Amino acid sequence: MWVALYAGLFPISILIMELGNGRSSLLPGETRFPNLLRGATAEEVDDAYRTIREATISLVDPLATEDYVVQSCPEASPPKWHLAHTTWFFETLVLERLLAGYEVIEPLYKMLFNSYYESVGPYFTRVNRGILSRPTVTEVMFYREQVDKRLLEWIGSIPQDGWDEVVYLIGWGLQHEQQHQELIMMDILANFAANPLNPSYCSSSAEDSRGPVADIEWLSIPEGVVEIGYDSDGTYFGDAGFTDGAGFSFAGAGFAYDNELPRHPEYLSPASIAHRTVTNGEFLEFLDAGGYSNPLLWLSDGWRWVDEQNRRHPRYWRQINGDWFEFTLYGLVPLQIDIPVSHVSFYEADAYARWKGSRLPTEAEWEWSALNLPVTVGGLLEYGRDEGGSHQGSIYRAGQVTGPSGSLLHAVGDVWEWTRSPYLAYPGYLPPRGSLGEYNGKFMNGQYVLRGGCVATPASHIRPTYRNFFQPESTWAFSGIRLARDEL
Ligand SMILES: [Fe+2]
Repeated sequence: MWVALYAGLFPISILIMELGNGRSSLLPGETRFPNLLRGATAEEVDDAYRTIREATISLVDPLATEDYVVQSCPEASPPKWHLAHTTWFFETLVLERLLAGYEVIEPLYKMLFNSYYESVGPYFTRVNRGILSRPTVTEVMFYREQVDKRLLEWIGSIPQDGWDEVVYLIGWGLQHEQQHQELIMMDILANFAANPLNPSYCSSSAEDSRGPVADIEWLSIPEGVVEIGYDSDGTYFGDAGFTDGAGFSFAGAGFAYDNELPRHPEYLSPASIAHRTVTNGEFLEFLDAGGYSNPLLWLSDGWRWVDEQNRRHPRYWRQINGDWFEFTLYGLVPLQIDIPVSHVSFYEADAYARWKGSRLPTEAEWEWSALNLPVTVGGLLEYGRDEGGSHQGSIYRAGQVTGPSGSLLHAVGDVWEWTRSPYLAYPGYLPPRGSLGEYNGKFMNGQYVLRGGCVATPASHIRPTYRNFFQPESTWAFSGIRLARDEL
């Protein structure tokens, strides 16, 4: 099983790449970029590659052919585009650059499925991805098969002195593929939600409801200087937390993106953090109290967003004959009041927190809490499917947040949690050289950090230092709210 294979068998990589000029080079001694696959055999890389690529296909399997082409909003992409773009990554950033004599499958794909890499060349306009009826789904699947075939054939014949370079890029490409697995789920939800027929991606086999959720407990965060960011020694996991008793462990450890580095000190003021996330029922109270009509609760830009977008409730809520419903991957279902509110913007999260006389946590507070308090795990992709998983039947929507008192419940999984921290470079941050330098660093303005993963995040992809980021108006992700407050 790839997840187990990935869960820490490989030492940290010491590699840095240079890609923008069409070549790659290693800088021995560079320790900033961990790589799960370093030290792996060809068979192990082959297995990891097949497992993740096949997982992507399993996610689109329930779709009808027509579903692959739809782009319902500018931030979403058609599932077909994701399938091609993740393949483009391996073809353009790995095969074309490192495999001598490689001939591309279709030259125009280099532009068509480039997302935003200026250093690679021009790319097709993002908002127009939905107009591309060609290449067909069949042709995109053929593209995937051809790139997979050539890459896997090549893995078996790479000379030892080139091995580290290749697996560094393949490892990054597989992390990229997993990010797009989550995006595929977000986009299927957005596309289906725009359809008056209320199509469902899958049927819900169980309602994860166990009675009223506990009142929020406030867990103390002591004053002091702490270190956050990825620890290249990989020792920060310790013995604490990140298990729900069902054997879950963080396979996502062992890799980190550049934006999680370097580990560095942060000062924490005395504070406390809520032991669970905000529920639909609690957010409904905000609506009923006129939260969307009270400008005193909103940031200036947030209030403008509410006004211009005529926002009156979270993105996928719908009121029908006085009753509230929510559009989910299970279709349109009655609003469950005891599960985490999801698909709220930073503005909505911030306004709710202000209404409650609290605030959102900083990412330093979140990371310290996740690593120093007992933690339980909520719904994640790849998790809860196995027999014995504790979230069977609710894998595409967060379940009820329950667990032991004094624990940071479902800090990992269920919903990405908005923080009040702008998405900025850590002190000493350096992006990778070349094209991969465009992966994270150039987005470090105008966005906020979210932590913890969600029901669409692969379990083998998430880790405590992981920094997701979205614009404050974004509601397209599975994004929710955990409160914090000052204790001055
Ligand atoms: Fe991408």
